[in-house]
Amino acid sequence: MTGELRTEVRQPVIAGNWKMYKTIAQAVDFVEKLKPVAARAHHCEVVIAPPFTALAAAAQAAKGSEIRIAAQDVHWENEGAYTGDVSAVMLVEAGATHVIIGHSERRQHHGETDNYVNWKLKAALVAGLTPIVCVGETLAEREAAQTPQVLARQFAGGLAGLTLTEFSRILIAYEPVWAIGTGRTATPETAAESHRAIRQLASRQFGESAAGQLRILYGGSVKPDNIGGLMAQEEIDGALVGGASLDPNSFADIVNYPRALSVVR
Ligand code: PGA
Repeated sequence: MTGELRTEVRQPVIAGNWKMYKTIAQAVDFVEKLKPVAARAHHCEVVIAPPFTALAAAAQAAKGSEIRIAAQDVHWENEGAYTGDVSAVMLVEAGATHVIIGHSERRQHHGETDNYVNWKLKAALVAGLTPIVCVGETLAEREAAQTPQVLARQFAGGLAGLTLTEFSRILIAYEPVWAIGTGRTATPETAAESHRAIRQLASRQFGESAAGQLRILYGGSVKPDNIGGLMAQEEIDGALVGGASLDPNSFADIVNYPRALSVVR
């Protein structure tokens, strides 16, 4: 694959999704350890997504460094009677620059639909956050050869009504559900195939140039020993890392993935 849709150099993004792990103290300790790693990582952007409670402290600790802070979810309203939810303006105030939207665990455990993803995405964009929109098929969908249809549905629903300018500000994470937390990573080739499908969808809806600039991260059991192979795929522009992002050393190894194999970026 020559990557005919590649029109721009896409700066890779390595993002750690901590899920429901780490206290405030643990988050701050992690940030202190990651700072020197991020300072040397000129080849990629480094993002961590602490739980809501640790967002402000992590952002404070990361101030002046290259580390960017993501929330793991957002509500679509600025304020209101929504017990347990947090709005985009609140996230910005806490120091977040990014937000993960539509993670499969939200879709699975919290009934998140493509409609909700769309509303959340628009709220995040209005607030100035960089959304990381997650898409990906379940094992049953993959086995039924439904992956392209699932990606098309999630893309069309989640990104409905976006302007070209708005689209140019988002990141997409392809996270096959069967690879999340299972130790079963998609092969680099399988992941790249889905990334290409997503880029084609982007090209059809937003044009070739915007699609060529879209950064698509892979997520699902990314570890220090498989990140090199994934990043060697021209289509893979970074990673959304769960379990292996909790330990500062393993996350540092992922940030510093072997680049000899990688495409020149
Ligand atoms: P994992 O999680 O790396 O633990 O599989 C990835 C994710 O859910 O973003």
